[in-house]
Amino acid sequence: MCGIVGYKGKREAYPIIVDSLKILEYRGYDSWGVAISGNLSTSVIKEIGMIGDADSLGDASKINRGTMGIGHTRWATHGTVTIENSHPHLSSDGKIAVVHNGIIENYQALRKNLKKKGYVFKSETDSEVIPYLIEDFLKNKKGISFEDAFRKTLSLLEGTYAIVAIHDGFDTMICARKDSPIVIGVGVDAGEYIIASDVPAFIEHTKNVVFLENREMAVFNGDMKIICSVTGKIITKKSQVIDWDIEQAKKGEFKYYMLKEISEQKETINKAIHQDDKVIQDIADAINESYGTFFIASGSSYHAALSASYTFSRIAKKHINVVDSSEFPNYEHFLTPQTLMITISQSGETADVLDAVKVAKKKGVKILSIVNVMGSSLMRNSDHSLLMNAGPEICVLSTKSYTSQLSILTLLAYASVGKLDEGKALLRCVANHVGELTDPKTILSTVEVASYLKDKEHLYIIGRGQSYPTALEAALKIKEVSYIHAEGFAGGTLKHGPIALIEKGTPCIVFAPNDETKKEILSNAMEIKSRGAHIIGVSDKDNEIFDDFIKVPDVGHASPICDIIPIQVLSYYLAIFRGCNPDRPRNLAKSVTVK
Ligand code: AGP
Ligand code: GLU
Repeated sequence: MCGIVGYKGKREAYPIIVDSLKILEYRGYDSWGVAISGNLSTSVIKEIGMIGDADSLGDASKINRGTMGIGHTRWATHGTVTIENSHPHLSSDGKIAVVHNGIIENYQALRKNLKKKGYVFKSETDSEVIPYLIEDFLKNKKGISFEDAFRKTLSLLEGTYAIVAIHDGFDTMICARKDSPIVIGVGVDAGEYIIASDVPAFIEHTKNVVFLENREMAVFNGDMKIICSVTGKIITKKSQVIDWDIEQAKKGEFKYYMLKEISEQKETINKAIHQDDKVIQDIADAINESYGTFFIASGSSYHAALSASYTFSRIAKKHINVVDSSEFPNYEHFLTPQTLMITISQSGETADVLDAVKVAKKKGVKILSIVNVMGSSLMRNSDHSLLMNAGPEICVLSTKSYTSQLSILTLLAYASVGKLDEGKALLRCVANHVGELTDPKTILSTVEVASYLKDKEHLYIIGRGQSYPTALEAALKIKEVSYIHAEGFAGGTLKHGPIALIEKGTPCIVFAPNDETKKEILSNAMEIKSRGAHIIGVSDKDNEIFDDFIKVPDVGHASPICDIIPIQVLSYYLAIFRGCNPDRPRNLAKSVTVK
């Protein structure tokens, strides 16, 4: 995970790096740090916790005002959250500074060798071997350049990495990647480059980007040179223009990104369904013709996939295999070149998803992806991609990306039975309803429910059919942002065990849309109410079983899109009432780039 930044240009590097790190904070927020090169030495600032309120100008007495620097916001994998373990890490002579995102799997062996040579490590991280290895090559191979020492270092690393390194003496910045993302922003002024893990970090400065592929490195010394890190061959690449703007990456009038992103969903659903009809139809045809279609995703994106499998079953009578990406390698035996794999991912950088793609590609499987981040690794590793067009999602929780995914998948289900226009009309109507559901007046009843639930320890959520994945997603939203223990079940599962958990006053959310599941889910609600549960019904119609009622519109096959909205709002207010930061839940990061 981790967010990394590098700047080399003519402007003062520190404020640019700090502001970029603030935007990238969703990738990790255990600690942060910046290194700026200077005439005499590199100055390093490291702090524990979030960078959120740090002064962008910094303390002038501690920071070089140089024009080249790197920054990091950490999600610890190796070593606890301490100043010593925070990045940037320096070489023993202090001249080389490095930030790293990923895991160096052979770091123990590398550390051992370096220790034998007399190097003394200051941190417990896997990353610290990198500056030491570069330094060692520079010391022991006379006349070797920083670029060559960096490249030789890469050849020793096993695992995953996005690295940015600077070296004072050479006035050079270098970056490289393998299985962790890096994007290069090409500044408007000649010779200005900003490296980052994700585009929003530099969108304020430039929309021209160059995407690095695995095993590529870029060297910045006045201009930019991209080479293959294995062969050293020069690679020519054109920059691309990104269609996001800075307003989308800012909170505006909202205190937190989460509520901003929840409120954007009328617009983002409309954007999600604004696709090329022919492309949608071709993909729908490919699903019909495939010998087995797999939907592969993680977390909320997995819930969207599971929900869509019900939609495909209902609308298209088509079976879709849905597998959590981390479990996918177990399914490789069922893959043939006739299999179609559809991967669903907001970031396009989820390591488990990328790994599943690798496994499938070996079997000749065609890969289609539904992604939000243009140019992401997943997009570049797929045969075809559909963009969600949701704009940057900065809150660690998926909200607008979830409903965008559901919208695109619903559209595909309709297209697969030749009813694309019908699907679009339904989703346009859904978008309008979503606009009403996020209206500040409409959410008042949900805020009241949040106030009732705020001190509860456990919460159960049930749904049947299409609402079962909605129950899973609702539970994930609530637990990750408010830390209340929330679990989603299929209504029919209760009697097989979970009903034992119900006691007097246990709150239970019940999804009861106007479909074939209604009678049975209401019976399930009654069963738990009889055992003391407090029932919060999410439905198109109130019912005497409900102790609290949250009204949602009846939108037929698209009900999962509307039904999750009040729970997103509920989760947000639970976090606020419990004093949690909804944008940065503990222990989490937005892009899960480690396995
Ligand atoms: C859910 O709110 C997220 N915290 C998380 O589960 C996310 O959905 C998952 O990590 C997948 O991310 P992706 O869509 O970027 O692949
Ligand atoms: N492995 C490094 C550390 O623990 C980087 C972590 C990451 O990229 O998430 O500091």
